[in-house]
Amino acid sequence: MYRKQSSAQRSRKFGNWREINTVAEGRATRPSTSNSHMNQEINQRIVGAAPAGARDRDSAAQAVREMFTSIAPRYDLLNHVLSFNIDRLWWWRTARRFDAILKRPGARVLDLCCGTGDMTFALRRRAGSGAQQILGADFSHAMLQRAAAKAVEKGRGTTLRPLQWIEADALRLPFPDAHFNLVTSAFGFRNLADYDAGLREIARVLAPGGECGILDFGEPRGLIGHGYRVYFKKVLPAVGTLLSGVTGPYAYLPASVERFPSPDEMLGRMHQAAFREVSWTPYTFGIAGLYRGVRSA
Ligand SMILES: C[S@@+](CC[C@H](N)C(=O)[O-])C[C@H]1O[C@@H](n2cnc3c(N)ncnc32)[C@H](O)[C@@H]1O
Repeated sequence: MYRKQSSAQRSRKFGNWREINTVAEGRATRPSTSNSHMNQEINQRIVGAAPAGARDRDSAAQAVREMFTSIAPRYDLLNHVLSFNIDRLWWWRTARRFDAILKRPGARVLDLCCGTGDMTFALRRRAGSGAQQILGADFSHAMLQRAAAKAVEKGRGTTLRPLQWIEADALRLPFPDAHFNLVTSAFGFRNLADYDAGLREIARVLAPGGECGILDFGEPRGLIGHGYRVYFKKVLPAVGTLLSGVTGPYAYLPASVERFPSPDEMLGRMHQAAFREVSWTPYTFGIAGLYRGVRSA
C-alpha cells in the first residue's frame, strides 16, 4: 500500500530508503493547476521548472509530481508514439557513453528521475555483469510502480541483476556523500524546481572522479528547428492530451523545454556545481542532448 512519506521518512540517513518492490496499481491524481502558461512570478525567482500556478520551489515540485502521476498509466505508450521510438536510441547512446564506469566491478550507479525505468534498464544492459549496484529513483510513486512491474517482466527467466527502485526527491537524496560513481538523469532534470540545487545534490552523492550524465530535450536550430517547433508546440500537446486523457502535461512539456537553460548556460552551471570536463553532445539535430561532467576532487 502507498503511504505518503513523512519528513522523517525522507531523512537523508543512509539505509532509510523507501524501496519500491510492489507492483500494485497506484492512484493517479489529476493536476490541480492549469498549465496553459508559465507562472510569471516564479520565473523571476527560481531557475527551475515552473508549472503554471506554482508559487515556490515546493509547490512547483508538487505540481510536477502530480503531473507525472496523472500520466503514469500511459507514459510509456505516449513516449514511444510521440518520439517515434527515437527515445530508445537516446537512452542507449547515453548508457553507452558511460561504458567504462558501467562495466567496472563494484561501480555504483544512480538513475535519477527514472520514471518508468527505461534509462535504468539501458544502463543495466550496458553494465552486463559489471556495476555492483544500479538504482532508479523518482518522487512519483505511480511511475516507480510501473518501473518495478516492468523489471519483474524483463527479469523473468533471465539472470539479469536485480535493480532497486527508490522513492526520493532529487533535491533531497537519501544517500550519503560520495556514494555513487555515476549519476544519470533522462528527461527528468528539466523538471526540477531548482537546477542549481539539483546539480549540487548530484555532485554531493558522486565520488570524486565520478561522472554525471543528463539527457534532456534541446531546441534544434534552422529549418529542422522550425519544423520541430511546430510539431513540439502544436502537434505533440494535442496528441498527448488526446491519448493521455489529461489536460496540461503535454502543454507543459514544450514550455519547460523553452525555459531550460541553453547548453552554454547549463555547462556554466555544471562547472559552478563542482563539475569539470563538462560537455554537451547533441542527439538527433539537437532535439535532445547529453550533458556530461566529471565530479571534481
Ligand atoms: C519525463 S519523465 C522521465 C522518466 C524517464 N527517465 C524516461 O527517460 O522516460 C520525468 C520524471 O522525473 C521525475 N521527477 C521530476 N522531478 C523530480 C524530483 N524533484 N525528484 C524525483 N523525481 C522527479 C518525475 O516524477 C518523472 O517520473
